[in-house]
Amino acid sequence: MSIASTPPPALRHTAPLAQARDHLRAVPPLRPDAAPAVPAVVTAALPVPTLGGVVDYANFDHAASTPALVSVAQAVESTLRTYSSVHRGNGYASRVTSAWYEQARAEVAEFVGARSHDEVVFTRNSTDSFNLLASTLPRDTTVFVFETEHHAALLPWKHRNTVRLPVPGSARDAETLLRTALKTRHGRHRLVVLAGASNVTGEVWPVRRLAAIAREAGARVVLDAAQLAPHRRVSLAELDVDYIVLSGHKLYAPYGAGVLAGRADWLDAAHPYLAGGGATKSVTERGTVWHTGAARHEAGSPNVVGAVALAAACHTLRANAETVEAHERVLGGRLLDGLRSIEGVQTYSLFGEDHDRVAVATFTIDGLDSSLVSTVLSAEHGIGVRDGKFCAHLCVDALLDVLPDDLDDDVTDPYAAAPATAVRASIGLATTAAHVERLLAAVAELAANGPQAEYVQTPQGWVTSDDPREALPARPW
Ligand SMILES: Cc1ncc(COP(=O)(O)O)c(C=O)c1O
Repeated sequence: MSIASTPPPALRHTAPLAQARDHLRAVPPLRPDAAPAVPAVVTAALPVPTLGGVVDYANFDHAASTPALVSVAQAVESTLRTYSSVHRGNGYASRVTSAWYEQARAEVAEFVGARSHDEVVFTRNSTDSFNLLASTLPRDTTVFVFETEHHAALLPWKHRNTVRLPVPGSARDAETLLRTALKTRHGRHRLVVLAGASNVTGEVWPVRRLAAIAREAGARVVLDAAQLAPHRRVSLAELDVDYIVLSGHKLYAPYGAGVLAGRADWLDAAHPYLAGGGATKSVTERGTVWHTGAARHEAGSPNVVGAVALAAACHTLRANAETVEAHERVLGGRLLDGLRSIEGVQTYSLFGEDHDRVAVATFTIDGLDSSLVSTVLSAEHGIGVRDGKFCAHLCVDALLDVLPDDLDDDVTDPYAAAPATAVRASIGLATTAAHVERLLAAVAELAANGPQAEYVQTPQGWVTSDDPREALPARPW
């Protein structure tokens, strides 16, 4: 079925464009140099096709995956020119490779503020890290997790021993919910799962206070730092949490490397996550003796290039932490203020509009399907955002007030009264002040006048005719 993009008259926003721009002017635009210069990424000034011609890509999709830093690309290139077998050879190149892999582990340990008793295990990504941790929990461990979590943190636990905490209405509410749950649900061991920053709203969770509540009750804490670490300093020691999880591809390194860091005891006592070479001390007919330490859960030849890339990103981000935070404070502040000033645009928050957040904003435009909004932003303005429920369905349903019954309705109706999905704009090192102004102007125009081109909905999403984005560049190999 295809649905034309012209909304029914009653829901159409008729405010003229000039009026929409006036709304925006209530908040002064950013000067191009308003935010401090930050470490360069390889995609700076990436030209992309739009219906109106080629423009430089305005990347507002950092919360999904970040472009690589130039420093990361350089480290990868050096590794590609050098590497040989890792932990398995005595040739010079093998020795260098093995040393770099372990130095990468040490760099990551510093980045996450690891203590002497912590291990740093390289994984594939945050999802892998959570599944690894879940596989190491002693029997009779009760897990406490807020429904707001990303599915990677929400789902890996055994259902029977998991306590789901409802979506809190405020940061204080989160503390009360956790305190109450810990008083009423016991277990030989307990683990509390916390997000550093919400991947939906960007709001920063009160990790230190929640961790103290867990600690008082004798529970351990795992921090999902996938969304916090790219923006703010994180530290196992300072936050007093037991484990930390993050992904390289959200931290300006390429895909394929993530981290689980934290207390060694459960990791060392558990069966290896993967069985195979590298995890074994000895294999005889009588049985297998497994290593302890990170090697126990890193069987098979590891992703050395990914680990080096991640370490290079950690190094650059740590050296530039203040500039990165300042850059995002300026751009993120303008983005949120600007979106809030546009008539017909709703922004969303768990803990209140003034709550501390990283530079992420989730919004809807009245009467427009979020998938259409993201398509138009790309096709007409060269802007990349994400739409949907961001792998945090329970969180987004609560924010948008979607009741479970509503989900039986035709949620693909783009002009349904309640939006079923949202648009997320996430800022990072590839975003400039000019990009923020471009996004705000585009959203104001969409809210006032709808799309400029005609779009139809197909099973593949919203499409428009003569879309130059269909002509993909030649594959890179
Ligand atoms: C907060 C949070 N945790 C975990 C994940 C999962 O990360 P990955 O896809 O790298 O496993 C994401 C990804 O979006 C996230 O935003």
